[in-house]
Amino acid sequence: MNILLIGSGGREHALAWKIAASPLVERLYCAPGNAGMARDGELVALDPADHGAVIAFCRARKIDLVVVGPEGPMGEGIVDALAAAGIKAFGARRAAARLETSKGFTKDLCRKYGIPTAAYERFAAAVPAKDYVRAKGAPIVVKADGLAAGKGVVVAQTVAEAEAAIDMMFGGGLGDAGAEVVIEEFLDGEEASFFALCDGETAIPLVSAQDHKRVFDGDRGPNTGGMGAYSPVPIMTPAMERRAMDEFVLPTVAAMKEMGMPFTGVLYLGLMITASGPKLIEYNVRFGDPECQVLMLRLMSDIVPALLASAQGQLRNFDLRWFPDTALTVVMASKGYPGSYGKGSVIEGLDEAAAVADVEIFHAGTAEKDGRIVANGGRVLNVCALGKSAVEAQRRAYEAVDRIRWPEGFCRRDIGWRAVAREQTRIT
Ligand code: AMP
Ligand code: GLY
Repeated sequence: MNILLIGSGGREHALAWKIAASPLVERLYCAPGNAGMARDGELVALDPADHGAVIAFCRARKIDLVVVGPEGPMGEGIVDALAAAGIKAFGARRAAARLETSKGFTKDLCRKYGIPTAAYERFAAAVPAKDYVRAKGAPIVVKADGLAAGKGVVVAQTVAEAEAAIDMMFGGGLGDAGAEVVIEEFLDGEEASFFALCDGETAIPLVSAQDHKRVFDGDRGPNTGGMGAYSPVPIMTPAMERRAMDEFVLPTVAAMKEMGMPFTGVLYLGLMITASGPKLIEYNVRFGDPECQVLMLRLMSDIVPALLASAQGQLRNFDLRWFPDTALTVVMASKGYPGSYGKGSVIEGLDEAAAVADVEIFHAGTAEKDGRIVANGGRVLNVCALGKSAVEAQRRAYEAVDRIRWPEGFCRRDIGWRAVAREQTRIT
């Protein structure tokens, strides 16, 4: 088979690595890819927004399957355009991508189909939104309806803070994303993510992961795309995973089908595990980044038949096998991220780092210049390790991190702290 993979982040490098390991794959092309992905496939300078060019490339190179990593191209309808041209694609269609691109859409779906989530109301103007906040009191959560690059959610500790967020959003502070606002109940608990592969009709479970969204140790500082992740998550017990499928994934797949917008691809559940059970914080229509990196390390089965089954509506009775080990990834980012940062600094020691047992390094914002790897983005590297425990996976990942010579970069030193703390209290 020939496969075209769309995207250029750490998520896509992990997918490229796993796809390239499949005996079914003849050629893998990555558009646009990054310096690390060049080892697993051939980089092609295609613009995913130019559907005509992507289709022409697929025809010329006899592509059997297109795998779409990020939500952007899905929201722009790349899966629909490819399907119309008779080309199989893994990912969500434009209408189904609304599960990620509109919080109001997802909240209404939850309400209609009894999917557990925070109580909420939708607003199109500031005055009724503020009345609602005053009636409910704080803490309360104010969310822009659309995608806002991680800035669209304000967990307000006071009514005044919530009112300021409402003014900011309706004042155009987030552009079109804030033209509508969802206000919801504050949920207390531990967050965990869970993933399922869907084919429009049915779904199969993948595994759990936990991200670390804040930039600094101890979960302090501004939100980022994710500074590290690990899998499995202790709080996602087999019983909790069953509930994730029964109470969230399966009813959502059935609802989307009933509404005439069948969901295909990966459904990413952002859950809050509260005292009264799991509640949905958000859906995404793609693998997480960096969550995908730890999922790919734990996946024992060939991923290609699963991606194909999802794209072809054949997931029923499909099964995937996983390593029971813990996988953990530490993101190395350019100093200044998630604010402004420089580009072009040289990164050394990658081969020495990759030589640590059970370590894999996935690139994100890197480029190759004169035979050397240079930083070319905010999140730059994912240093991933497998271990028999979270403690072991964490030790290996940081041993590899410490072999990388990149003074212009930084990382968190506490990735996996919840799982590590749990293991340590069990031992002592
Ligand atoms: P989202 O962009 O929807 O993932 O929200 C970003 C972050 O805001 C989440 O990861 C949570 O930490 C927090 N959050 C969102 N909704 C709630 C809620 N209802 N209660 C408490 N925290 C929330
Ligand atoms: N790491 C969070 C996300 O991919 O949305």
